[in-house]
Amino acid sequence: MIEILPFQSSDLEAVLDIEHQVYALPWSRASYEDLLVQDSIQMWAAKKNGRLVGYMLSQLGGDDAELHTIAVSPDMQGQGIGRMLMQHFFADAMKRRLNSLFLQVRLSNERALALYRSFGFEVVGLRKRYYSDNHEDAFVMRCSLTQD
Ligand SMILES: CC(C)(COP(=O)(O)OP(=O)(O)OC[C@H]1O[C@@H](n2cnc3c(N)ncnc32)[C@H](O)[C@@H]1OP(=O)(O)O)[C@@H](O)C(=O)NCCC(=O)NCCS
Repeated sequence: MIEILPFQSSDLEAVLDIEHQVYALPWSRASYEDLLVQDSIQMWAAKKNGRLVGYMLSQLGGDDAELHTIAVSPDMQGQGIGRMLMQHFFADAMKRRLNSLFLQVRLSNERALALYRSFGFEVVGLRKRYYSDNHEDAFVMRCSLTQD
């Protein structure tokens, strides 16, 4: 059974391990440590029998939140864990009565794009040559939680 739990500092090693496996530009330990002391940052862990298999980090700002990162261990991808993390993000956003959710994603990241689109995210902008490893563009995506 997969559980979505609040991140604990003892989860950081496992997060960094996955981070280095899935991202071309992994965030460092110091980046996470700097972010995690900020009140606006929220982080959750997906755990299977106590093992951290995925995580998500977002930031609250006014009536909005931005999803900064979501990742699932490569050996556990395609089993619905990313979707569970996103459902948790949405449930929290609804509880907080947020207006919009934002994120950025590489144009080539078809899996993530399919996941985000299935939750109602739409492309609202393009950041040219955003990623420093290959100068790939980023889509900026937004999901409105209100009736506008
Ligand atoms: C993106 C990511 C978090 C998705 O997590 P996951 O647990 O593998 O995804 P799920 O099994 O919950 O699948 C959710 C949806 O993603 C999409 N998806 C998953 N695997 C896919 C594949 N091989 N091809 C296309 N779409 C896929 C589908 O829309 C799927 O929904 P469906 O199963 O109802 O069709 C995961 O692949 C990952 O960690 N990727 C590397 C890190 C990353 O790119 N993060 C996003 C940065 S913006």
